[in-house]
Order: sequence, then C-alpha cells, then structure tokens
Amino acid sequence: MGREHATPLLEVRGVSKSFGAVAAVRDVSFPLHGGEAHALVGENGAGKSTIVKMLAGVHEPDAGAIVLEGEERGLAGPAAAQAAGIAVIYQEPTLFPDLSVAENIFMGRQPLGRFGRIDRAAMRAEAVRLFDRLGVRLDPDRPARGLSIADQQLVEIAKALSLHARVLVMDEPTAALSGVEVERLFAVARALCAEGAAVLFISHRFDEVFSLCQRLTVMRDGTWVSTDPVADLTVDQVVRRMVGRDVSTLFPKEDVDPGDVVLEVDGLSRRGVFSDIGFSVRAGEIVALAGLVGAGRSEVVRAVFGIDRYDAGEVRVAGERLPVGTPAAAVAAGIAVVPEDRRQQGLVMEMSIERNATLTRLKPLARFGLLGGGRERRSAREWTKRLQVKYGRLADAVGTLSGGNQQKVVLAKWLATGPKVLIVDEPTRGIDIGTKAEVHRLLSRLAADGVAVVMVSSELPEVLGMADRVLVMHEGRIAAELGRAEATEESVMFAATGRKGAAA
Ligand SMILES: Nc1ncnc2c1ncn2[C@@H]1O[C@H](COP(=O)(O)OP(=O)(O)OP(=O)(O)O)[C@@H](O)[C@H]1O
Ligand SMILES: [Mg+2]
Repeated sequence: MGREHATPLLEVRGVSKSFGAVAAVRDVSFPLHGGEAHALVGENGAGKSTIVKMLAGVHEPDAGAIVLEGEERGLAGPAAAQAAGIAVIYQEPTLFPDLSVAENIFMGRQPLGRFGRIDRAAMRAEAVRLFDRLGVRLDPDRPARGLSIADQQLVEIAKALSLHARVLVMDEPTAALSGVEVERLFAVARALCAEGAAVLFISHRFDEVFSLCQRLTVMRDGTWVSTDPVADLTVDQVVRRMVGRDVSTLFPKEDVDPGDVVLEVDGLSRRGVFSDIGFSVRAGEIVALAGLVGAGRSEVVRAVFGIDRYDAGEVRVAGERLPVGTPAAAVAAGIAVVPEDRRQQGLVMEMSIERNATLTRLKPLARFGLLGGGRERRSAREWTKRLQVKYGRLADAVGTLSGGNQQKVVLAKWLATGPKVLIVDEPTRGIDIGTKAEVHRLLSRLAADGVAVVMVSSELPEVLGMADRVLVMHEGRIAAELGRAEATEESVMFAATGRKGAAA
C-alpha cells in the first residue's frame, strides 16, 4: 500500500467553482496516482464535468488548485492544460473531419522536413508507432470523417500520447460505444496505466467503473463524499453515498392487459441498413428493440418516425398509413420519439430550459392546433419536476445543465406531448442510477395509461425488466421475438450475436 504515501501525479486540492448562484463544485479534493485508473461518480449535476473542465483548463477554479507532481499549476486555457500533460477525452470528440487521422493527431505541430515542408512520411510513421503502442489498427491516411466515435476517441488518445500526456481524463467516454469498443478502450487505458499514466474515468455504468478502476471518488451536490480503493467498496455502498439514501436500481414494468394495436410496422426495408422489419405494439405494451450497437435499431426508429426514408414496407398508427419521410405526419398521428443522440437532435442549447421543454422545435405545428399553449407548458414543467431535473431557473439556457439533466429535459418535452406511441431510444443513457428507476416507473405508468411504448436499449437488465416482448435485431433484421417469459440474458445475447437455432 506504499502508494498511499507517494506524491500523486495530480491532485485536485480544495477546488470550488460557481456559475452565478449555482455552486457546481465546493471544496473538492482527491489525488490521482500514476499507474491507476480513478473513477469519479455522482448523480446528474453532482459536478463531475465541472471538475473535468477545470482539469482541461476550460474553467478556472474560484478557489483551490490543481497540483501536478507537487507543484501548483494555474491551468489558464486548454493549451496550458495540454502543456501540463493533461489530456481530456470527451464523449463526442471534435476532430477535423476533412483532415486525415495523422493530421488530426499532429494538428498545428506537424513534423517538418527540408525547406520547412510538412514531412508527411514522418507524420504517418509516427502515427503508426502511436497506434502500435495502443495496440489498435487505424489507417493514418484516411480522413477523420466517417470514423466511429470509438475510433475518434482513439485518435484523441493517440494525440494525447504524442503530447506526452501523463493524465488522461475521460468524461463518459463509453456512452455511445458497443461492448467490444468499450473493451478496446479499457485495454488502451490499462496499457497507459501500466506505463505510469493516471486515468480519471467518469461513467454512470458501475460494471465499467468496477472493472477498470482501482480507486473511486464519490461526489454529491458539488461536494466531495469519499475516496476509497475500489476493492473495499460494493455497488450498494457507492450508490448510497451518491444518492444519500437506498435506491432500487430497477423498476419492473407493471402488468397491463394490452389494448388495441396502435403501431404496426410491416416489411420495412431500407437498402443496406435494415430489411423486412415487422412488428406491432398494443396500447399498454412495452416492446423492446434489443441488439448490439450498430444492429440497425436506431435506424428503424428514425424510419418509423419519418426522419429517414425507407424503400419498402409501411407504418400504420391506429390503422392509418403514415406517409414516408414525414415526421410532422408522425407527430400528428401521435408518435413521439426521444432520440438516442439527445444533445444534437433534441435540444437548442442557447434556449432556455422552459422553451426547450415546451416543444419549441415543433412550433410550426402549434399553428395547426396540434401542440403548444399553456397546457403543454404546465405539463412540461410538471415532467421536469417528476424527472428530477436539477436546474437553477427555468429561464437558464439548457446548455448550462449537466449532461444527464439535458437528457431529462428531452424526455420531459416528449412525455409532455401526451403521445399514443412513445419511442424511446436508450431512455436512461447518461442518467444516474438514482433517477433510472424513476424513468422506468414513468414508462411503466405511461403504458398503464394506454400508451404503446417502443424502447431501444442496450442495457439488458432494462430490457428484461421493462419489456413485454423483446425484438432482437442482428445486422438489420429481426433475429428473434421473445415473450417476457422467454427473454433472458442468454436468449437475447444469443440472438443478438447472430447465432441460429434454439437458445440454450
Ligand atoms: N456553464 C454553466 N453555467 C451555469 N451552470 C452550469 C454550467 N456548467 C455546469 N453548470 C451547473 O453545475 C452543476 C454541475 O454540473 P456538471 O456538468 O458538472 O454535472 P455532472 O456531475 O457532470 O452531471 P452529469 O452526470 O449529468 O453529466 C449543474 O447544476 C449544472 O447545471
Ligand atoms: Mg457530466
């Protein structure tokens, strides 16, 4: 245990940060040791990303300091943080899409050859060397455009390596990754730890935290609660410290006698994306679309809602066929979709929480008497409350909310429309464990009130706990339809990975 006494690579020492009246972080301290992955956990709005932004030089602490190898460092600006050896990997990296992978790694500091020209060969060779060190295969010459989020993160990590970063900070990096990609990211993080780097890892998924990290810090309401070796902790202990009370982590769906068929999808195909998708959902039912990331679930949802077109098949709501590629018609027919990528597709960051929660994006529809008015506003307020959205004032820009609270605003906005069909894509992604069961309870309640619910989810416990029926997608097709009783972790995974025959 000698490490306890060694000088930490980095120390967050008594830092505080307020935004107006909101004290986001108050007097928080914890050490990051070289060779260790350190988890930072807490409810939505606890202050985790604010800590990250102080490490990244984006925000300056109001009080306290970031101490690097025993030395206080003012990190005035991202360049200063970079120079100090701190690299931050965000959930959605920001590469330059038209530049090559290698150019992104060496942006602004390309190796120069004779006559001061950029030495492309040297740059490429160095990129290959970095990827080798990370144990990944990526073509340094390809443009960044079209890379998966997982690969974009690896490019960012390669860049961090080339800058000799000693501290790697990852803020919910796994939210949009598949299982295989998470494992690859963890292998890279472990390799960096083995080389003596320190990793700070933020996630709402406890299985990940417990598999990657050796030490764990809990924050609650902007304050420090505890820092302990992970080996000394149980999930229940961590949750209690985060939330300050015992919580049930799952809320199984109530049994409901299903009503009439509300949503019918028939032979839906989109060339190269999905084919022959057929299912129906009755009032009161929750039907889950399970499968691995990339199986085509979100694409099906987008087509049903009319965001994307399809080549064949049809979608009917209460027996009425919907026109292809017309979201307005889907909304008018009573479909609401909570998208997977809520930050980009669901919110206008500069607008107030209230306006976002009251359907601003569908304003044109209000003219036809479909939406808008005081009733929706009241209802949106009520939903933000029920979802425990943590905010200062409703008039604040939605962009000032923590990531998880932004997610909740999008949920609230769609729930407030009183839909007949509710399609939720990854309903609890980015949402903390304390509110998760609440989201499940709300979905169950909506179903009981006669809403037909379609839920896309990668979280098996959520699928098994909530769904009346599970449609498992594999490579753009429905590989299996399982009733509540047949759906188990094994049977779903079996179908999701494309294995045929009876599930063992
Ligand atoms: N730029 C800002 N302006 C005003 N308030 C802010 C700003 N950034 C963060 N906050 C507030 O600070 C608090 C902490 O937010 P932070 O993003 O650090 O939470 P978090 O722990 O990362 O949560 P999540 O798990 O939801 O991502 C929240 O109440 C948030 O609304
Ligand atoms: Mg955050």
